Amino acid sequence: MQHQKVLVLDFGGQYNQLIARRVRDLGVYCELLSCDLSAEEIGRSAPIGIIFTGGPNSVYDENAPRVSPEIFALGIPVLGICYGAQLIAYTLGGKVAHAPSSEYGKREISFLKESPLSEGIPEKSVCWMSHTDLVQEVPAGFEVLASTESCPVALFGSAERNLYGVQFHPEVVHSEYGNKLLENFLYRVCGAKGDWTMKNFVAEQVARLKEKIGNKRVLCAMSGGVDSAVAATLVHRAVGENLTCVFVDHGLLRKNEPEEVMRVFKEELGMRLIKADAGERFLAALKGVTDPERKRRIIGELFICVFEEEAKKIGKVDFLVQGTIYPDVIESGKGKSAVIKSHHNVGGLPDVVDFQEIVEPLRDLFKDEVRRVGTELGLADEIVWRQPCPGPALAIRIMGEVTREKLEIVRDADAIFREEIARAGLARDVWQYFAVLTDSKTVGVQGDFRTYENVIALRAVTSVDAMTADWARIPFEVLERVSTRITNEVKHANRVVYDITSKPPATIEWE
Ligand code: XMP
Repeated sequence: MQHQKVLVLDFGGQYNQLIARRVRDLGVYCELLSCDLSAEEIGRSAPIGIIFTGGPNSVYDENAPRVSPEIFALGIPVLGICYGAQLIAYTLGGKVAHAPSSEYGKREISFLKESPLSEGIPEKSVCWMSHTDLVQEVPAGFEVLASTESCPVALFGSAERNLYGVQFHPEVVHSEYGNKLLENFLYRVCGAKGDWTMKNFVAEQVARLKEKIGNKRVLCAMSGGVDSAVAATLVHRAVGENLTCVFVDHGLLRKNEPEEVMRVFKEELGMRLIKADAGERFLAALKGVTDPERKRRIIGELFICVFEEEAKKIGKVDFLVQGTIYPDVIESGKGKSAVIKSHHNVGGLPDVVDFQEIVEPLRDLFKDEVRRVGTELGLADEIVWRQPCPGPALAIRIMGEVTREKLEIVRDADAIFREEIARAGLARDVWQYFAVLTDSKTVGVQGDFRTYENVIALRAVTSVDAMTADWARIPFEVLERVSTRITNEVKHANRVVYDITSKPPATIEWE
């Protein structure tokens, strides 16, 4: 079954991935593609609608990205947002002007005329503006549909030609009826059926993987992270025993993680899952090493080496599964080139496995869709909502040399922090949270005795994409409970501090 598709043409605005996610959330599959796609290419891909995103340019800039008027002759509905709206006006003979000053923030908007886009939207509401240029005159045959005080053409369109331009940002939550406007464009203008659901995705992918893989052999590196877990489960659903997963246990994972991976995927789901117990080798390789980059390199290289040994035992396979997801594809080539995820823990695998082709069943999905697919496949919340864990795991959360004793301290402290965050119901609000074993010792008093023990730091951040992050405002009572429990229950820890640095200037991890 082929689902309907919308093309989101990327003109470089900061909210472009957000636009694509909103469209998907509204039940319509869409792809974010470069704005230089030709009318012919667009026609061939037969979308039910096109969205031009915002962008940093002015249509009058010499090097500003433009569109060919032929796109409008395809008869496919178009919605232009911000720069995209100005581009429609400019290309079809309207006028765009520099506003006397940039407009930024919430504004009251008045809808002036009924149109398919205004269904269910009250006459007055709040929208979110961020622009310098604005449309001054609409092209012939177009009508002004909404305005704000400083932006007379906030929405314009031609119902006859199914072309619309909106100056505000409907994708941003501060636009009260923005989502409604997008929904109207998709369902009332483009004729969307809402056939993009994770249930359909699973059914489609399983059929496709069955056909592609058939009776051939597939190999997957299972890290226990969300992407590899969901990718493996999907492939397993399609080809069962023909999939072999290798889980390299480097001994640096969080408390109970290796056991959980084996229980869920091997025992409950019945996957053919091989665990390589390599904890001792990793500890030996890390002995005496304190430099963060050296630690990472050693772990990365040894990981590949252990995986290679296991892969050799399995012999030749036909396919290698990778958990690449859509943001990786977009970021690595604006949707044009296929790039294998450069995650340190899977990056080198294609070089050491004897295989013919890579299978990436999640490469069309955003992270929240991957989670929904995981739930659809019956995976538990603990797996589907797992926070990101770096490949080198606890090794980069222990400052200085990694030893068995230090691993135990940080692992126990981390488990307490996680338990308390879950108990406080904060697990989905905080993006990432963990304990760090600092290389400081401080004086304390426990019972009637002087102690000289380790300082544990707690790190918790909110973030959207890990590029920037803010420290999470965890309630003091929760921090207090965590601190009390760590100093009582974890051996060799007598002090707990909370990291209140954003990224930048700090990074999320301490090493
Ligand atoms: P930083 O510390 O750079 O981390 O702010 C950003 C995000 O990336 C994760 N991270 C890694 N993930 N391999 C990974 O797979 C790594 O080597 C690695 N280092 C950092 C980090 O946990 C955070 O989510």
